[in-house]
Order: sequence, then C-alpha cells, then structure tokens
Amino acid sequence: MELLKKEKISEILANPEFGKKVCIKGWVRTKRGSKNVAFIALNDGSIIHSIQVVADREKFSDDILSKINTGASLSIIGTLAESQGAGQKVELMASEIDVLGEADPDEYPLQPKKHSLEFLREKAHLRFRTNTFSAVFRIRHAMTFAVHQFFNNKGFVNIHSPIVTGSDAEGAGEMFQVTTLDVNNLPKTDDGKIDYSEDFFGKMTNLTVSGQLEGELAALALGEIYTFGPTFRAENSNTTRHLAEFWMIEPEMAFYDLNDNMDLAEEMLKYLVKYALDNCKDDLAFLEKRLLEEEKVKPQAERSEMSLIEKLEFIGQNDFIRLPYTEAIDVLRNSKPHKKGKFKFPVEWGTDLQSEHERYLVEKHYKKPVILIDYPKDIKSFYMKQNDDGKTVRAMDVLFPGIGEIIGGSQREENYDKLVTRMDEMNIPKEDMWWFLETRKFGTVPHSGYGLGFERLMLFVTGMGNIRDVIPFPRTPKNAEF
Ligand code: 4AD
Ligand code: MG
Repeated sequence: MELLKKEKISEILANPEFGKKVCIKGWVRTKRGSKNVAFIALNDGSIIHSIQVVADREKFSDDILSKINTGASLSIIGTLAESQGAGQKVELMASEIDVLGEADPDEYPLQPKKHSLEFLREKAHLRFRTNTFSAVFRIRHAMTFAVHQFFNNKGFVNIHSPIVTGSDAEGAGEMFQVTTLDVNNLPKTDDGKIDYSEDFFGKMTNLTVSGQLEGELAALALGEIYTFGPTFRAENSNTTRHLAEFWMIEPEMAFYDLNDNMDLAEEMLKYLVKYALDNCKDDLAFLEKRLLEEEKVKPQAERSEMSLIEKLEFIGQNDFIRLPYTEAIDVLRNSKPHKKGKFKFPVEWGTDLQSEHERYLVEKHYKKPVILIDYPKDIKSFYMKQNDDGKTVRAMDVLFPGIGEIIGGSQREENYDKLVTRMDEMNIPKEDMWWFLETRKFGTVPHSGYGLGFERLMLFVTGMGNIRDVIPFPRTPKNAEF
C-alpha cells in the first residue's frame, strides 16, 4: 500500500478538498452494494458521521470485498469526490483497501441495527463503536476539558487528592477497604481484633469517598483549589443515578461563604452546559434525535416538554432558585402529590428529601434548577458550618431537572471547638483526623466548597437515562466486568 499519512474523518468532512488523495483508517459500520460498486460506511471515532467509501467491484477482488463486514478495520487510500447521493456531501473513491482486521459477521455482536442499551452494557468492550456511545464519550472528554478550563480561567489550582486514605470524609461508612493482608489468615492482636499494624500501610485504609478533606488543607494555603478524581462508595444503591466508582469535581475556596459557593456552582454549571452546546453540536444533535425517537413510544404524559438542546439552553437562561430546606418542606407539604398521598416517602422536617421530592420541586413547582440550603444538621456531614439556630447547617444541594441532586456542598465549620463537639456527637474518630483539626487551630478562615458528580452532569448533558451509560466501565453492586 502507498505510504500516505492518515487523516481524521472529522477533518476531511469539515473541509473536503475534492480531487485530493487521502488515507483514512477506521471500522466498517455498514456495507451495502449494487452490481457495480460497494458502499462502505467507515467510522474512525473522530466524529459521529461516517464517511461513505465507494469501492468499484472491478477494482477489488471478491476475496477482499467479502472481508469487508460490519466491525472490520480498514486502511483505505482514495480520492475525495463530491457525493451524488443524499445525506453526505463528500465520498471517497477507493483506490487501495487494506483489511487490517476481519470481523466474522456470524460472531460480531454489533449488527447494523439498533441494539438496546441493556444489551450494549454487556458488550461494554465494543459499545464505543456505536454512534450513541461514541457521542457520549466524546462529550465526556469535552466536559472534562471544560471543567479544567473553567477553573484554570479563574486561577484555581488543581490538586490530586489521594485515592487510598485512612479516613471517611463523609462519615457514612460506605468504604471499600484496601488491604494486602491474607483475608483467609488475618493477623490478630491479643484482644482478638484484626492487627492492622501488619497491613501494608500499618493501619486500616480504604478507597476515598471524597477528596474534600485533603482539598481543604490545600485551599487553606493556595486559596482556591479543585480536585477531579475517582471516588468510591460501597453503598448498595441499584439506581439509575448511583455508581460504586464515580468521578467527582470538588472545588474548595478560602474566604468563600455559602453565597459565594452558590454563585460559583451556578456559574460553573452554566459554563459547562454552554461549553457542550458550543462544542459538541453534532453529538448533541444525534443524541437529541435519538431521544425524540425514544419518546415517541412513551405515553403522552411521560414525554418531556423540552428537547435535549432546549433543556440545555434553558439552564443558561434562568437564575437558579435558592431556597432554605425548611421552606422546601412547606412547599412539599402543601403540594398536590403530598395531599393526594402520591409521594412514596414521607415529607417531614428533619428527614432527607427523596429524589421524588427533589424532582417535584425542580420539575413541577419551580420549573428551574433549585439550590436548597440550610439542611437539618443531623442528615448532613460533620464538617458543615453550624447555623446559630442550633438545628441547621450551611449546606447546599443543587437540584437539576431529571437528575435530582447534581451537587452537594457547604460552608465549612471553621471553629475548632464547634467542629470537635460535632465530631464527638457523630462519633467521628478525631485521632485519625488530627491533621484536619489542626487547620482550625492554625490560621483558620471561613471557607466553602462542593462536589459535582461528574456522571450526574453527564446524564444531564447527554440526556441518557442510566448512569451506567455515561461512564466507560460502570462499577455497581455485583458488577465489575471489564
Ligand atoms: O453530596 P456528596 O456526598 O458530597 C460530598 O462528597 C462532599 N465531600 C462534596 C464536597 O463538599 N466537596 O457527593 C457530591 C456529589 C453528589 O451531589 C452527586 O452528584 C455525586 O457526588 N454522587 C454520586 N454520583 C454517582 N454515584 C454515587 N454513588 C454518588 N454519590 C454522590
Ligand atoms: Mg449529597
């Protein structure tokens, strides 16, 4: 085969030079044929669109053409030509085709037809090769980039918080233990407990549930920081919005109060959504169309009032509602679904809101994103700043349509004595967190931060319905395949 540098299909389609000889490499999506020519749709992952390759049957042997099936990988040299057919403006008239890897049509699981998302989850090693998943993961990349760009533009410092820790930042006990001890033959202390001094780190360790505590240490010197890393929670929640391994963005800012914190969260979410609208047009257009088709088979009442792109634009056009938890409880108790007994879970001051409540507030009552603040202290983490009422803390949850909680955060308790008292009340081991407490002893300042669940953001931006479909290889209870 002639030596020619490979070009990306995205670049060719953006600026086609008719008559130019190019080399492309990718995977066959479909092949159809007429008596004289074969039409091959080739995709290289650089863009949602495949390029149409025209292979003259006189030029290529039946042996080669028979190997060109859905899923096969090809290297092709040809000349760009204006397309005669509808649906594309450029096609490639092939002069050389090299079959790099065959895909036996009797064995290759992805047929050129629509597969269910459930089926594709079981083929997660191949689902990148579908339009839907290639679109989702290009958008995931764009959102990752946009997160770093947003914070970089604001002068935030990215901190790599540790993945193995000895602490439980949220105090919820939902940790995966990390150990090199022989689980079939555990060393014991004299009083019969497991002897962690013999473990790799000389103490009990786990995968982190949050980078916040270490983020706070950095913020109390660098001013404004953010982490963006994997976090792990061993909660047995088999829902469309929970993963055991998910990615979180956690900014932490010295000298920010809760209002500054809310301002930043709202600005960031608007920035990220706008970034997707501006930079992921083709992929969003594809996902929007896909959703519309899905909606068509739903009963009228369940169909969404807005298309995907309208929903994204809506975020930028509206100020988020900011509302104390106590007022939200009143709104919910006075709501129709509550009075008619339609909510599954009770609405009572002091209990955590369930996603049905959050979605009522956002989707039915206010019809805008809502930031709930000042939650009862007993349903929130130990580190949140205590209000003077003795009952609530300076917490904030950002609630989004279709998602519920997308961000959780707070102003932090910067007073040493109050923090210690709260840790005692909640049985948080102070010895393990001496370093966290020292920041309140030495040069403590008011500060705030929050955590954005990256996959929850991805659900919103892509319109996908299940969190397992916006992370390449989901980890959920009883599932760590791939
Ligand atoms: O509300 P959470 O638990 O807050 C924290 O972890 C704080 N340390 C954040 C901070 O203040 N720095 O989690 C934050 C966000 C949630 O709002 C949600 O979007 C996401 O993380 N999240 C999950 N996403 C997927 N699967 C799970 N199991 C999640 N748990 C939380
Ligand atoms: Mg939360």
